Amino acid sequence: MNPKGRFITFEGIDGAGKSTHINCVAGLLNKAGIRCIVTREPGGTQLGEMLRELLLREDMDVATEALLMFAARREHVVQKILPALESGTWVISDRFADASYAYQGSGKGLAWEKLEALESWTLGTFQPDLTLLFDLPAEIAEKRRAAVRAPDKFEQEKADFFLRVQAGYRKRATDYPRRFRLIDSSQSVEAIQAELAQIIQPMLESVLGIKADR
Ligand code: TYD
Repeated sequence: MNPKGRFITFEGIDGAGKSTHINCVAGLLNKAGIRCIVTREPGGTQLGEMLRELLLREDMDVATEALLMFAARREHVVQKILPALESGTWVISDRFADASYAYQGSGKGLAWEKLEALESWTLGTFQPDLTLLFDLPAEIAEKRRAAVRAPDKFEQEKADFFLRVQAGYRKRATDYPRRFRLIDSSQSVEAIQAELAQIIQPMLESVLGIKADR
């Protein structure tokens, strides 16, 4: 299987501001004439959204949480992501497997080896083509989280939890330098969007075989 679309994931601790920039990347793709869909995890399918409700509300054992995350992810990949990529549509996902390493792994202490086993069982070698990691000082993210009116289960975690999650994300970026790009999320929105355009440009050129409109 050699999918024709590209798979881009957005990651970062809660409050890092990734959601603001998803539409920007989708807009860049549309402008270049590339079809794309935006989706999210946990969720993205009918069953996945039902699992999201449970995952974001109910307290549960961390292994149970990881199993449900990967169950939702397997459904997401099989039902939505792979069919889109195979038809030439690009897929942007607000979080993917790296989030399980960062949150259930580094944040809550589940061994990464367990997550690797789950990942290879449910996804095989399937990986994003590009992962944009929104990174910013944890205390700024904390202030942004404090402004959320109805925080979910994860958003209610303490500051040291998010420091561990951030360290987990940075380790993933170091382990997979080919697909990760670190974005300094403390920059202005304009500066971040200019950086995103620069990152996306070579992908567009490689796919369209031409210099895309800048
Ligand atoms: P998030 O993506 O931040 O959505 P919103 O912007 O609507 O709050 O919420 C999803 C939460 O789920 C986030 O706190 C991280 C957590 N999560 C995990 O713990 N593990 C995972 O594998 C995924 C995909 C998400």
